[in-house]
Amino acid sequence: MVETKKYTLIDGRKVAADIKKEIADRVDELRREKKKLPHLAIILVGDDGASTTYVDGKVKACKEVGFHYSLLRFADTISEERLIKHIDQINNDDDIDGFIVQLPLPAHISVDRVTERINPEKDVDGFTNQNFGSITSTHPLILPATPFGVLELLRRYNVETLGKHCVMVGASRLVGAPLSMMLAEQGRATVTICHKYTKDLSEHTKQADILLVAVGKPGLITGDMVKEGVVVIDIGTTRVEDASKAKGFALKGDVDFETVAPKSSLITPVPGGVGPMTIVSLLLNTLRVFEQRAH
Ligand code: GUN
Repeated sequence: MVETKKYTLIDGRKVAADIKKEIADRVDELRREKKKLPHLAIILVGDDGASTTYVDGKVKACKEVGFHYSLLRFADTISEERLIKHIDQINNDDDIDGFIVQLPLPAHISVDRVTERINPEKDVDGFTNQNFGSITSTHPLILPATPFGVLELLRRYNVETLGKHCVMVGASRLVGAPLSMMLAEQGRATVTICHKYTKDLSEHTKQADILLVAVGKPGLITGDMVKEGVVVIDIGTTRVEDASKAKGFALKGDVDFETVAPKSSLITPVPGGVGPMTIVSLLLNTLRVFEQRAH
């Protein structure tokens, strides 16, 4: 007997395209009213392949929705002091609504010092301590972009989080930590956070109604580690050498799709799941801060 596919693929590309259309419509309206348009600036230090690809995607997205954008590229030899001077300039540039500093940074530059220099009102990645902390406030201005994208995907696929058991694997500052807090705060879920020191990971993952994974270890989660009907959100994106691909690599998630998908009710693919949503969240945050400022 041929087994029929019973899970639903969460199509991040489709949701991202729908949201971009909504943003582009708003930009058209502003243009018709001869108003200032949202302006996102992106700082890229060095020429790391993955970072360059991500930044290219962000620039392309700005063009698609009609945002103004500035791309500031610096050699990886730039000093922390000079980089901070550029950040101050952008903080004080009234035309720029929001900006990001693409990570990682070279080892001689402190991510903490650079991030904390960003004016929280322009921090559209939601990385500053102020925006991280505001997750628990009643009216957060900017929510961390990738976690915000995940919540938006769940919302658009009508996945109820209230009272559900979410298991977050990965506790990074950029994804796991803020996402678990947002699932508890905005999503009103019960949340378990697992990380590299967690003993017997599968004892936790098996209990998940919603399993979210962001560790960067391809295939970490296998079918025997999840229960039937689980909703799976795979936030991992690791480049794995693959000679059959034009670019010489394939993007792999943290979830072993072949064995996990048949047990799940909904699941994100990699690529095409969470990835497209991270960029769209950046656009949404930029539009949000733009609308908050008086023009
Ligand atoms: N590096 C990997 N992901 C991200 C992101 O979402 N924002 C920034 N600024 N850097 C990253």
